[in-house]
Amino acid sequence: MKLIDNPSLSNYLTMKIGGSALMMAEAYNLKDIQDIIQKCKNEKLKFYILGGGSNIIAHDETFNGIIIQNKITGMNVIKEDGESAVIKAGSGEPWDDLVKMSIHMNLSGIEAMSIIPGTCGAAPVQNIGAYGQEIADTLIEVEAFNTDSGEVETIAAKDCEFKYRSSIFRDKLPGKYIIISITLRLSKSKPKPPFYANLQKYLDNAHITDYNVSDIRQAVIQIRQTKLPDPAKQPNSGSFFKNAIVTKQKLEQLLANYPNAPYYDMGNNQYKVPTGWLIDNCNLKGKLIKGMRINPANALVLINESASGYKDLAAARAEITATVYDKFGIKIEQEPLEI
Ligand code: EPU
Repeated sequence: MKLIDNPSLSNYLTMKIGGSALMMAEAYNLKDIQDIIQKCKNEKLKFYILGGGSNIIAHDETFNGIIIQNKITGMNVIKEDGESAVIKAGSGEPWDDLVKMSIHMNLSGIEAMSIIPGTCGAAPVQNIGAYGQEIADTLIEVEAFNTDSGEVETIAAKDCEFKYRSSIFRDKLPGKYIIISITLRLSKSKPKPPFYANLQKYLDNAHITDYNVSDIRQAVIQIRQTKLPDPAKQPNSGSFFKNAIVTKQKLEQLLANYPNAPYYDMGNNQYKVPTGWLIDNCNLKGKLIKGMRINPANALVLINESASGYKDLAAARAEITATVYDKFGIKIEQEPLEI
């Protein structure tokens, strides 16, 4: 296990904002995780598990504890039949390495989630999703270290309570579990339409009609690169806001005033309204607020151009949230987690 004293968190987070932590520890296996959690318990320190740092915002104040960098590796096919293959991946593996492996094996189920930054272990936490797929669709189970009991548990997908960008790991029991591995079932069948509208448009323009996972991956990479800024060049955390989930009544109010507003029926009297559209229609796209730029290509993404720290980001967030609320009466929520 490697320990680093007083790491500056902004160096580890793609938004490039945040103060320091007391310590950072690299965990290569379950034993490392157990030792770090024990140390935190003994010394009454907080802990936080970091994947790729692409979906976390840190405060300016020092984090009074240990940031655990997840380096648990391994990606193996553990079962296979004529229709599908079951793959188990260590939680510290980069998510896109797992997607690449699935493409090389001609397996479908996660190809539309190509080049999402972050680790395999972070993927179930917020139920990552893109272009019509989410990890909840293919996940069988996770192995997770229960930090209360010190035991490793196998948690079936149905018990993860997956919803849009949500799971028990993120919302109901944050900090209780540290994911050690994820197991997915991927299909040997070709990807089938209907595809997400933007993706279908891209495939049609490229005259692709015989769909395979490599073509879908390439299409998704092209679409993402036009809409999502590269964090290595322009610090950001992907979608900064979640899309809004509203009731039928709220949706009808919105449509009465804005008949062209886009929305998706999620069932159960819930409708998803793209927050990018809401922000865009407040004429905020491209604006710079306190050093945070509202991405001109997709208003859901905030780019840290020159924010002095978390305070500036919070002020920009407050202004955007209030502007959207004043215009549409819809409360929008931040997507990245905070430490
Ligand atoms: N829109 C606008 N203006 C904008 C942005 C979007 O009018 O500035 C409209 C678009 O025209 C479209 C709708 O909003 O009708 C949806 O936009 P898009 O398809 O680009 O997707 P999104 O809702 O902005 C979500 C995910 C992304 C994911 C894409 C594709 C969330 C919070 N974001 O974005 O995920 O890649 O769909 O599936 O659900 C992430 O979570 O970090 C992320 C990038």
